[in-house]
Amino acid sequence: MIDPYSYRIQTIGCQMNVYDSERMERLLQADGFTPAPANDEAGLIVINTCAIRAKAEQKLYSLLGRLAPLKKANPHLIVAVGGCVAQQEGGRLFSRAPQLDVVFGTHAVHRLPLLVDRARGTKGRIIDIETHPLQNDQGMTGPAPQPGGSPIVRFVTIMQGCDNYCTYCVVPYVRGREVSRTPGAIVAEIESAVAQGVRSVTLLGQNVNSYGGREGYLTFPELLETINALDGLEQIRFITSHPKDLSDDLIAAFGTPGKLAPHIHLPVQSGSDAILKRMNRRYTRKQYIKKVEALRTVCPEIAISSDFIVGFPGESDNDFEASLDLIETIGFSSLFAFPYSDRPNAPATTFEPKVAEKIKAVRLQKLLTVQKRATAQYHQQFVGKETEVLVEGQNRHPDRPGAMQWYGRNPQNLIVHIDADPGAADLTGKLKWVKIDRALHHCLKGTLETRPLQDICCCSRSRKAKNVPGGIY
Ligand code: SAH
Ligand code: SF4
Ligand code: F3S
Repeated sequence: MIDPYSYRIQTIGCQMNVYDSERMERLLQADGFTPAPANDEAGLIVINTCAIRAKAEQKLYSLLGRLAPLKKANPHLIVAVGGCVAQQEGGRLFSRAPQLDVVFGTHAVHRLPLLVDRARGTKGRIIDIETHPLQNDQGMTGPAPQPGGSPIVRFVTIMQGCDNYCTYCVVPYVRGREVSRTPGAIVAEIESAVAQGVRSVTLLGQNVNSYGGREGYLTFPELLETINALDGLEQIRFITSHPKDLSDDLIAAFGTPGKLAPHIHLPVQSGSDAILKRMNRRYTRKQYIKKVEALRTVCPEIAISSDFIVGFPGESDNDFEASLDLIETIGFSSLFAFPYSDRPNAPATTFEPKVAEKIKAVRLQKLLTVQKRATAQYHQQFVGKETEVLVEGQNRHPDRPGAMQWYGRNPQNLIVHIDADPGAADLTGKLKWVKIDRALHHCLKGTLETRPLQDICCCSRSRKAKNVPGGIY
């Protein structure tokens, strides 16, 4: 007999969805649900979806296909679809997937337990894609759900929606207009996370630099200052800042001693001014380069990562070459690159001429090859040096059967693996100096530094300035 109050959540998409899925877990657990070990042992299956590209949306339909036999075997199973595809497609999902019971949009996360109850009670289909007022509390204070989620690093949503309307992007249509949470609610959530052992938070928003603008709260740099003062928190990161809104004050924050890690994800999308204009990005290649220079002036060790789209409608060979050239010019620490995909409601869907899929695939490969070289060079500069690592946990050693290794990230957000001494104390949540021995494509490998911390000379701004609370080392 399957427990109707056991649940599984499957998450597709960005960090916002990861955060929302954690909210769902908390709400369900507060309502008496417990995690199920597998889909075929669950009384409730939730899929949290992403609409950013056609491929992401397709994942939902293949997952739903796999759930059909489970619903047949257990007619009491409730299948709920939330997130961005739910918001985009609404009731149309019911005609595509007869096995579906609940469709809930991006503003209805807090109502999930109620919607599930209603679906059970009425045995009918339930839809909630209305926009609801922003839930400032978000249900994220109090004990974290078990299991799942890192005990050390945590995402914290500071705002929802986006007002930028880049011509390729579906986000403004599925997440709605920009709304910020109050500074008080954000601080309370971070304090609650820190009380449970979280050491690093990543503040989430589609465009964090316009935080509080409409509401007249603190500016984003002021919010960073407030969070910087919280005891017990070691590190602050954020995603994403739109290059056009990267203000002088935010650039200056990277030069101010504190907990802000020296890494920024600054999606550029293209190196060609003509394409940037058609994307409605509202900055030029030159302006982007100038912002990067300003960041490097105040914080020479800053890592800069980015997103590119290849094959935007009308992208010529020359436009594409301009993107490759920008990669060489900037020296990104890492990149995400995506083939352009038409999205419902996004204006670029009507833009011509379209770039053939075959050409997009060739360009994507070329771009990734150029970046692979750049990433290798970037990683190589850490070899032989010490870097500070916030240890997140242990995983299996890839080369030594039965052995474990520690893993964490350095300030520049690079994953670092550290050989574990079998009898050594638990390093989870500790900040450690690590001597890097090897640079691989996706990570660095190193050994724990044994010299006293005071003797290590390193330019890490975050370490030097920090008021380190006891017990962390
Ligand atoms: N708010 C963030 C981006 C969120 S979407 C920002 O503005 O930086 C994440 C990435 O998906 C974008 O940076 C873009 O590179 C990619 N993307 C968005 N829409 C896309 C589309 N229609 N086709 C291909 N890639 C897309
Ligand atoms: Fe989409 Fe542009 Fe908003 Fe980012 S800034 S979410 S790419 S519309
Ligand atoms: Fe996808 Fe929605 Fe995030 S469309 S990228 S899950 S905001």
